[in-house]
Amino acid sequence: MCGIAGYIGPREAVAVVLDQLGRLEYRGYDSAGVAFADGSGITVLKRAGKLACLRELIDRNHTHSHLAVSHSRWATHGAPTDANAHPHFDAKQRIAVIHNGIIENYFELADALIEKGHTFRSETDTEVAAHVIGEEYDECGELVEAVRRAVRRLRGAFAMVVICVDEPDKLVAVRNASPLIIGIGENENFLASDIPALLPYTRDIIVMDEGDLAVITRDEIYLEDAESRPKLPIREHIDWDIEDAEKGGFDHFMLKEIHEQPHAIRQCLSGRLLKDGSVALPDTFSPEEWRSFKRFIIVACGTAYHAGLLGKYLIEGTLRLPVEVQYASEFRYNNPILMEDDLLIAVSQSGETADTLAALRLGKEQGIRTLGVLNVVGSSIARECDAVLYTQAGPEICVASTKAYSAQFATLALIALHVGHLMGADREKLGTLTSALQRMPELLEDCLKLEDEVKSIAEAIQNTSLIFFLGRGADAAAALEGALKMKEIAYVPTQESPAGEMKHGPLALVVPGVVTVFGATNPTTRDKVISNIKEVKARGGTAVGLVLESDPLTAGIVDHPIRLPHADSHTVAAAASVLPLQLLAYHMARLRGCDIDQPRNLAKSVTVE
Ligand code: G6P
Repeated sequence: MCGIAGYIGPREAVAVVLDQLGRLEYRGYDSAGVAFADGSGITVLKRAGKLACLRELIDRNHTHSHLAVSHSRWATHGAPTDANAHPHFDAKQRIAVIHNGIIENYFELADALIEKGHTFRSETDTEVAAHVIGEEYDECGELVEAVRRAVRRLRGAFAMVVICVDEPDKLVAVRNASPLIIGIGENENFLASDIPALLPYTRDIIVMDEGDLAVITRDEIYLEDAESRPKLPIREHIDWDIEDAEKGGFDHFMLKEIHEQPHAIRQCLSGRLLKDGSVALPDTFSPEEWRSFKRFIIVACGTAYHAGLLGKYLIEGTLRLPVEVQYASEFRYNNPILMEDDLLIAVSQSGETADTLAALRLGKEQGIRTLGVLNVVGSSIARECDAVLYTQAGPEICVASTKAYSAQFATLALIALHVGHLMGADREKLGTLTSALQRMPELLEDCLKLEDEVKSIAEAIQNTSLIFFLGRGADAAAALEGALKMKEIAYVPTQESPAGEMKHGPLALVVPGVVTVFGATNPTTRDKVISNIKEVKARGGTAVGLVLESDPLTAGIVDHPIRLPHADSHTVAAAASVLPLQLLAYHMARLRGCDIDQPRNLAKSVTVE
């Protein structure tokens, strides 16, 4: 979850790694630091707070160097203080280390080191790892070997980058369950925990594999596996545009990414949903294999979990094939009953979420086949799945996921169509879904036009202390995502449940001033939803309604209607209704003065449990 950057070459190294870090700040942002070699030694500068605090500190120091590493932290061990910020030194201050992940045996290691006379300046597991490397360096006198030996003593998940005062011509990096990507330059090389940090400098990358150790100099990249066997680096080319990873005139990444959704869905469908309505999902499973699956189990976290829930409605409705959706964090500990003709689908934007990765591994251990629905190419989950369908939504930077949601849903819809054709599912249903999906980009464009309306609703309800998000069927699944956005960005407490459950308890919370957002995109349950709206209004609650343009009746009952364009499929309409909910959360957050792209306590890529 922390951001890691490294550079070696002729440029001003500290400036490069700081720029890289700025592009990774969404990964973690409670403190930050740099270490650089300056001829006489290694200097470490670090600060609690946002990157701006570190920038100030750096501006006041002389930082001329050809080699630097930098780190932005999302605290796990120890509060976000200057002392706990990375990099950390070994006992003799010759070696500096930055680290993403958790060293699980750090207590034992620290105890043993304390007995030998070591003292620590921070409360972090990373400093313990730095001391272990230093101890090994005392023994063998060579950085790469010291790192190799130290790694054998460390347990847990870590991506780590190490520099040494006596060997200022190299960065040594190890990857164990946390991503690290090497950027290849001309007479210079880069390192980062995520691709956006490399885009201004290079598109040629090497994704380090689990257990890999890399030695990076100006003009050479040496790679070895966990058994210390040299291996040939596999070079990949990334074709993301740099503009994709920048704000492009929008005030926030979140707003930009909300607006990118029509394009993201076009990209997602491109080459897959063909003009004649057929679906091509090459490099996944053979038609026989696809037909052999008797159940899909979707595992995911956060927004990806909600996309999975909506996908369930679509897949079950289209194929009559059972779909289970489970929180990855629960699945892994619930001793799940898996059967050989199950397909486990791991849905994840980053492809790095620790719980989703662990759930995937559990499925693999039990011998079931696995598919990743992922956004980030070459991510950890991508490397371990039997097959991958990329959502092709482009980089998502804001912590709160928006375009990834729509693209995950569209990818699950493609699966429904593909399997539907292979299984000979109801043609009419397939035709309806095909046309709804083909039109989904325009549908989202029409939803974007609702922004002014949504903004004025945000103004009207900005001071509310509680918002209910309700719906039935697919609208209930969409409600969960609307509520999550509101919580994480605008910090408004929410209650989300199927509308029919209100009278079984939650209704007790409705008093004048409480806001209720109803999803009412399904004509077959509309009358029931109208009754639920009336129950809320009778108790003085304010009702916002996501209603179809063609439904003036419901629009007339709610206080604030958001009139949604028509979609051929009710589930696609529910998916599109999330866009105005994203905008509602965004404008509420703005009005309430929240830090939209970097909400408190959260991080984008959750690589710890
Ligand atoms: C974090 C992010 C969420 C995201 C979730 C799952 O909590 O803040 O926005 O939905 O992780 O992430 P993934 O990368 O697996 O989709």
